[in-house]
Formats: sequence, C-alpha cells, structure tokens
Amino acid sequence: MSEGAAKKEEKPRRFQAIRGTRDLLPPETALWNRVEQTAHKVFSTFGFGEIRLPIFEQTELFARSIGLETDVVSKEMYTFTDGPLKRLEDIAGYIRSMVEYQSFLFVAQLFDFYVREFKLGVSRGDLPEEHRSTLLEMHNILEAVQNLDARRHEGDLSTEKERVLARIKLYVSVPRFADVLALRPEATASVCRAYIENNMQQLPQPVKLYTIGPMFRRERPQKGRYRHFYQIDAEVLGGTDAPAIDAEVIEMVMTFFERLGLEGVQLHINSIGDKNCRPKYVELLRAELSKVKDKLGPDSQRRIETNPLRVLDSKLKEEQAIIENLPRIGDHLCQDCATHYAAVKHELGLRGVKYHENWRLVRGLDYYMRTTFEITAKGLGSQNAVCGGGRYDGLMELLGGPPTKGIGFAIGEDRLILSLLETGHSPLATPHSPLLYIAWMGEKAYTTAIRAAKNLRNAGFRVELPPVEQKFSKALGQADKLGARFALILGDNEVASGEWTLKTLADGKQEKLRESDLVEHLKKQL
Ligand code: HAM
Repeated sequence: MSEGAAKKEEKPRRFQAIRGTRDLLPPETALWNRVEQTAHKVFSTFGFGEIRLPIFEQTELFARSIGLETDVVSKEMYTFTDGPLKRLEDIAGYIRSMVEYQSFLFVAQLFDFYVREFKLGVSRGDLPEEHRSTLLEMHNILEAVQNLDARRHEGDLSTEKERVLARIKLYVSVPRFADVLALRPEATASVCRAYIENNMQQLPQPVKLYTIGPMFRRERPQKGRYRHFYQIDAEVLGGTDAPAIDAEVIEMVMTFFERLGLEGVQLHINSIGDKNCRPKYVELLRAELSKVKDKLGPDSQRRIETNPLRVLDSKLKEEQAIIENLPRIGDHLCQDCATHYAAVKHELGLRGVKYHENWRLVRGLDYYMRTTFEITAKGLGSQNAVCGGGRYDGLMELLGGPPTKGIGFAIGEDRLILSLLETGHSPLATPHSPLLYIAWMGEKAYTTAIRAAKNLRNAGFRVELPPVEQKFSKALGQADKLGARFALILGDNEVASGEWTLKTLADGKQEKLRESDLVEHLKKQL
C-alpha cells in the first residue's frame, strides 16, 4: 500500500448521533427555553414546585409501575447492569435469554463462563464467603455436564440433559449479584419513588410537583418520535381524589398551551374504571374479542390474552369496524367511577375547558385508573399526541408506599416545539446575534475593549469581542455577517481622546461618544 493510501486509511472516524437521538441547536433552543420558562411560570401559579430526578433507576421500579406487558417495558427500555459483579450478571442474563432455544452444550459452556466469573467474584471478595458452598454445587453441575458429554454416544440422554438445564436455570434465574438499571422511559414512577423516599406524605397534601427532562424509549424513530426525547411532567400526589383535582390538572396544561399559542389543541378524555369494575369489563372485552379473533391482526390477537384494552388503541384500518362494535367501558363503570367521571366533566365545564369524550382512550401504561386524557395539536402527522395523562390511585402502594391518590400528565416537549414551529412560531423570540461588535486595533485599544465588553454585558447587552486583532474593514465585515446592529470602533485615536466611535451598521451612521455615556445611549436605541 502506498504511503498516501495508508494516510487515507488513518483518517479519524467521524461520529454521528445515535439513531433516534438528535442535537438541539440555536436558534431553536431559544424556543425550548421560552417553552420551559412558560412552564415554570404557569405551573407555579397553580402551586407546583420543581423536582429534579435521576435519569436512571432500578429497572424493577418501571417494570412494577408501568407493567411488564406494556410495550414500554417489554420492548423499549434501555437497561444495563452495574456494580462490581456486572460481568457475572451479564453472563447470567445471556444464559437466561439463550436457555430455551440454544443447544445443551452451548448453554453448558456459557454456564462454565458463569462459574469462572463467580469464582473470581469470591476470590476478589465481591461475593461473600458463604458463596463458596454455592461454587461447590455449581462445580457439581459442570461435572454432570462433562459426564453427559463423555456418554454422548449412549443413546437418548435428553431427560438427563433437561435435569441439568433445570439446575443451571435455577442459578441464573433472577438478577441477584448486580444492580439492573434502566434509563427512565417516563417520570411518574420516579416521582412516586421520590415521594416515598423523601417522606413527602408528611407535607401538607396534596404535593404538587413538576419536572422537565430527557426520557428514553427504544421506539422506531419517525417525525415526532425519538429514542431520546423530552417531557414536561406534572403530578399531584396525596390528599383527595376530588374530581376538581382532575379538572384543575387538565386546566393547567390547557392554560400552558394557550399561553404558548399552540394551535389546533384538542382534549380527549375517558374513564377506564377502577379495580372493582375494570376487571369485569376486561373479561367481557376478552370474550367478545375471542369471537372475532380470526378477523384481527397478529398484534391484536396476541393482546386478547396479554392486554385486551390495548386492542382499542389499534390504528389498523381493517380492525376499525370491529372495534366500533365492541362493548364500551362507559357502559360498564361501577357507580363510584361513573359518578366520578360525570363530576370531572362537570368540573371541566365550570372551568370552560372543552373536551371530546373518547371511549377508546385507554393509554399504554398499566398504572392508570378512572380519568385518562390525551391532547393533540396541529402539524404533527401521525404522532400527534402532545400530552398524555391520567389518574393512578394505587400506584404508590404498588411501590411500597402508603395509600396515596395520584394524577398527572406528561407533555412531549419535542412534539410541542415541532407543532409551534410548524405553525409559524419563530424560534428567534430571543435573538442570539450580537447587538454590538467591538472592532479594536492596537494593544491599548484591546485593554479598553475588554473593559467595554465587561461593562456592556453587565448592563445586559449582547456583545461580541473578537479574540484577535483584525483590520477595521475586516472587523466591520464580520460584524455585518453576525447580524450585529452596532460596531464600537476602538483604535489608538479613540483611546487617546476618550471619544469612542459607534457605528450603526444598517445605515453607516457614525457617532462620537464618551465611555460613560455609552450604556445610556444604547438603552435609548432599543
Ligand atoms: P405517555 O403517553 O407515554 O405518558 O407520554 C406522554 C407524552 O410524551 C406523549 O403524549 C408524547 O407527546 C411524548 N412521547 C412519548 N414517547 C415519545 C417519543 N418516543 N418521542 C417523542 N415524544 C414522546 C407518560 O409518559 C406518563 N408518564 C404521563 C403521566 C404523568 N401520567 C400521569 N402522570
């Protein structure tokens, strides 16, 4: 290979953002800031305080709250192991995923790795001494594997192999030796965990919290759907489940959207009952769905068993007519749920909040009961839900906390921004181009320029101070390119006379000013 070709080969690798993630750049970030500032302002008028949470938690926190059968937990979580025994746990996880459909020998070899790693853990002191006996038992299994291998020509050994596999499974069945963590796919579970951990039940109830930050779901990326996205999440925890709380939470998000000028906002609401009435409805739905099973697609067929409510979410064209004829939850609510739902609608009416009832709105997370809602907006295509939420009384108990009422929502901030941009909201509400460019030449002028920049910035002006000396003509060209309104010209003459030159770039007008007058003069120009 020629020297030139070798050099070409060495070209450093260029990195790209991971699929489903993206960089948010200025000037669009100015709009993100405006949205977040508005959230801080509006939410505080409703008595909400900000909570900041870690972006990873125990995987089990999400599994238990969102539900094992949901798409979010079963398919979309970014999980990883952590701790000194991470490798041991990774091998165990690998065996767990292989044991059902790989050959006996393959699994046995993996188990051999596992035992070696286990031994290392004991000798390093990462695993307590009492695990020496476990190690002995596992060695016995490896011996049994060797024994079977030696007898491989003896005919059918499948029963014995099954027995050995069952013993292997026992040792790797649950994650025990490392933390299994996940990047959070949503914030509600973490807010509940924090409420319990920080004894917030001792505060005056309800506790109203909101949080803004990134969430992670391994979804198929498309417009408005990312693997790393942002939510603005709000939760009301504790106190009563008075319908006025449901209505006020919804009123708050609608007020927020109105303040931002979001267009085409539509609120959809439903009640999905509680633990008294929903199981009966789900059984009825399952029975009805079973009757039409053959006409449903594979996803819905599977969901008849795992989560029949989710069939109602289906967007498949050929399933729509069937779904329209299914029993509706509204007709099967118990008295308490029906009364609560009617009162929520009444309370929304009192607040002048317009809504559409949608009996098919069931939401994709398991913790909901009674009130559920979604909000759609303009300009978003198929991913048009800009907010989703609902009531989740009972979730706190599921996470080991005291009986606590809960309701909240999360806004998809990426989608909110997308909708604002698509409907002509300029990201340039806070311009980031400089107001003033300092064109300096000469060492003395540089010291003066640094002082001028400091004073002007302290007064709140956006100032660009070039880091190296350049000819005035070049500096003025640069000021123009950056979109500055003024150039402050500082050369030896200006420093000596104390009279500075301020040039208005649009019309070329030049004025002489004293340093002490500059700030006041600029203020008058704005
Ligand atoms: P969710 O419906 O899963 O609810 O998400 C809420 C919102 O987050 C969605 O309406 C959407 O705007 C946005 N979102 C979800 N996934 C993505 C994605 N992959 N890319 C971009 N945006 C996305 C929850 O997360 C619940 N924790 C809401 C809640 C709070 N319920 C009670 N309290």
